Amino acid sequence: MKSSELKKKYIEFFKKKKHKEIHNASLIPENDPTVLFTTAGMHPLTPYLLGQKHPLGKRLVNVQKCLRTGDIENVGDDFHLTFFEMLGNWSLGDYWKEESIKMSFEFLTNKKWLGFSIDKLAISVFKGDQESFNEWNKLGIPKEKITYLGKKDNWWGPVGNTGPCGPDTEIFYWAGEEKAPKVFNPENKKWVEIWNNVFMQYNKNSDSKLTELKQKNVDTGMGFDRILTILEGKKSVYETSLFSPIIKMIKDLTKINKKQEVIVRKIADHLRTCVFILGDEKGIVPSNTEAGYVLRRLIRTSMRYGKLLGLEGTFSKDIAELVIEMYKKDYPLLDKNRKIILDELVKEELKFADSLEHGLKKLEKLAKGKKISGKNAFLLFQSFGFPLEMTIDLAKEANILVDVKGFEKELNKHRKLSQTATKGKFGSGLADNSVEVTKLHTTSHLLLATLRKLFGKEIYQKGSNITKERLRFDFNFDRKLDSKEIEKIEEIINQKIKDNIPIVKSVMSFEDAKKKGASGIFESKYGKKVNVYSISSFSKEICSGPHVKNTKELGKFRIIKEQSSSAGVRRIRAVLK
Ligand code: SER
Repeated sequence: MKSSELKKKYIEFFKKKKHKEIHNASLIPENDPTVLFTTAGMHPLTPYLLGQKHPLGKRLVNVQKCLRTGDIENVGDDFHLTFFEMLGNWSLGDYWKEESIKMSFEFLTNKKWLGFSIDKLAISVFKGDQESFNEWNKLGIPKEKITYLGKKDNWWGPVGNTGPCGPDTEIFYWAGEEKAPKVFNPENKKWVEIWNNVFMQYNKNSDSKLTELKQKNVDTGMGFDRILTILEGKKSVYETSLFSPIIKMIKDLTKINKKQEVIVRKIADHLRTCVFILGDEKGIVPSNTEAGYVLRRLIRTSMRYGKLLGLEGTFSKDIAELVIEMYKKDYPLLDKNRKIILDELVKEELKFADSLEHGLKKLEKLAKGKKISGKNAFLLFQSFGFPLEMTIDLAKEANILVDVKGFEKELNKHRKLSQTATKGKFGSGLADNSVEVTKLHTTSHLLLATLRKLFGKEIYQKGSNITKERLRFDFNFDRKLDSKEIEKIEEIINQKIKDNIPIVKSVMSFEDAKKKGASGIFESKYGKKVNVYSISSFSKEICSGPHVKNTKELGKFRIIKEQSSSAGVRRIRAVLK
């Protein structure tokens, strides 16, 4: 089965079970200050898991781009990836455990669908969840192949500190060449997790307490590359038709020995990830903070690995071209953003090339001692652009320790980076629905409308990040705003606030929303019904909310900073008083 067929089959199966297909959302989450990337298919659905009505109903299905850096050390083994696609289906307060398990079982084992042998499947369920255990057993999974596990293994979410979460049941596939054992031992790494059905019935609140959600949801996620590995009879995600051309290209460019296979895989994984970040509708570029910093680290790490293999010049460009070719049918934006993707990769490679050479020499010198101090790790970071984990990696190869705490201390002293980037923690947090954040979210709609009124309809949102304290808004514009313009923006928004305008939500087709001039960029043709939030005729945006009811709730708007974010992009920070 080809990779495109697998996606089609999955969607078709769940459509037959009355699910509606929703669009594949951006890799950069909307209005979520606590997380840098979309880490799971449920992520963009948070408001609906919490109880808001979804315009397409209670049963949804899609293929979602995801990015996780949580276990990046494992990338390069047989089954771990940084970027991946997830096949997911959801029940928003509709079907529950029994039906969800039945559907998963049918899709996996029925000859009409994937036709996997039952012998190769094993199941884990949350301790005490007899209902799920019995359902799997009833369908034909022997008791020895079903095991109860605790919270560490069979509980999913919340993504950060708060949000929807719940117990789950996980489906494993036997990836060994020999016959699958009769008894399931989850410690055996040849059992590979392929699908996770989460029963999201709780919300974790900011006081860490669990409360029942308004509705019982099901959130499932199946790793696309992993299923493809099984269907293509391969041993690793890196051997599938989606990775082998990339791996081959890297190998053709260099001579490697067996031990370096993992490095080749890491380069392939990282550059595929970079293509998807750079080519995303939200268009992130390398920088020293947040998502841009993750991107920078991925490019630089690939470069260093490339160097280990003797790759010269700007090799990432060739690999990126190949990735774009392979994925452009499913992701036309990659093709459209081809120039940006290639230019940014080359720019970053050139920027780092010199300092890499010098930095490696410096590190060699520093490594003469037994330990690299925090100060020196920081020096490598600041003067040579070495991400911390690269220094750690290099030091490890030479059996030397790095004072990570000392590095962080230095970093805090210089307050160069956001805390997220410092700690290397990239997945956390769900949309914050606090009053402050909601107010600023509505304000960001007013801001976009004002910018379009003043500077033309070509202005669009390049990124938004809202915390309780402030909003941050990026838009395409190629010069500084002068103080008069800033005053004008404030004046218009404050007038709209004074005008007591209700915020009205309507549900319409994507085409109608576009016809009505609603802003909002969607890559995919799916998700035909969308929510449009209007603030009189002044602002109209495709958006999943939440928003305040009336502009009068907002208070007084003030811009506190206007600066460049990257080439052709300006950034505004603003507050409400
Ligand atoms: N949210 C769950 C996961 O990511 C199921 O989709 O595994």
